[in-house]
Amino acid sequence: MITLENVSKVYPPSVHGLRDVSLTIDPGEFVSIVGQSGAGKTTLARLLIAEERPTQGRIEIGGWDITRIRPREVPELRRQIGVVFQDFKLLPKKTVWENVTFALEVAGASSKRIRDVVPQVLKIVGLDEKGHRFPRQLSGGEQQRVVIARALAHGPKILLADEPTGNLDTINTGEIIELLQKINAFGTTIVLVTHNREVVNSLRRRVITLGDGKVIADHRHGKYLLPS
Ligand SMILES: Nc1ncnc2c1ncn2[C@@H]1O[C@H](COP(=O)(O)OP(=O)(O)OP(=O)(O)O)[C@@H](O)[C@H]1O
Ligand SMILES: [Mg+2]
Repeated sequence: MITLENVSKVYPPSVHGLRDVSLTIDPGEFVSIVGQSGAGKTTLARLLIAEERPTQGRIEIGGWDITRIRPREVPELRRQIGVVFQDFKLLPKKTVWENVTFALEVAGASSKRIRDVVPQVLKIVGLDEKGHRFPRQLSGGEQQRVVIARALAHGPKILLADEPTGNLDTINTGEIIELLQKINAFGTTIVLVTHNREVVNSLRRRVITLGDGKVIADHRHGKYLLPS
């Protein structure tokens, strides 16, 4: 469960990223976060992974108060929340296999676990045949699937994706969204930040709309309500 209680974020000197946001996301939900540019979506995403700290309020993830999390606890949080952001950030000189393996090594996984998990996650994202390729030998959609595989390797309870399809065409976008739905069906909570009206409307899942740092709509079977 993700809980925000009266969370505000002010960037110095006085830019409001979020204003008094309270919300709860239950385990297993698939939530889209929408809102116009500057509405606070990425601020919310960054707060959830403790890349930023709230100026006011309280954030809990799975019963863990991360409001004042210590730097040495951040890696543990990142294992619970897999992160997929728009800029792919794959290591260009490592293969698909090595990119996923490296993330697990850094997290201190045993070699047995690495041998078990890497083929599993590459299969989930449909890249088990392309493990030996380098990122430049993959399409944009495939690269994004590697990023998702890497996030899944830690067995996160939550997958947080900020504009994961921002650079992709319609077909690749559809594939990524299908993949997120499949991951959600396995039980992982999905938080998807997106500008994509078709994606949000086709999902028919919860939609939280932010505007000027506040929650302006929150619908269980929501639609993309903003003007484009
Ligand atoms: N590091 C920062 N320092 C100062 N102001 C920031 C910082 N990051 C974001 N902001 C400001 O906070 C507000 C919310 O930004 P945020 O990045 O959360 O918006 P967003 O909804 O993700 O927008 P977009 O759709 O363009 O990605 C904006 O006014 C932005 O200028
Ligand atoms: Mg953003």
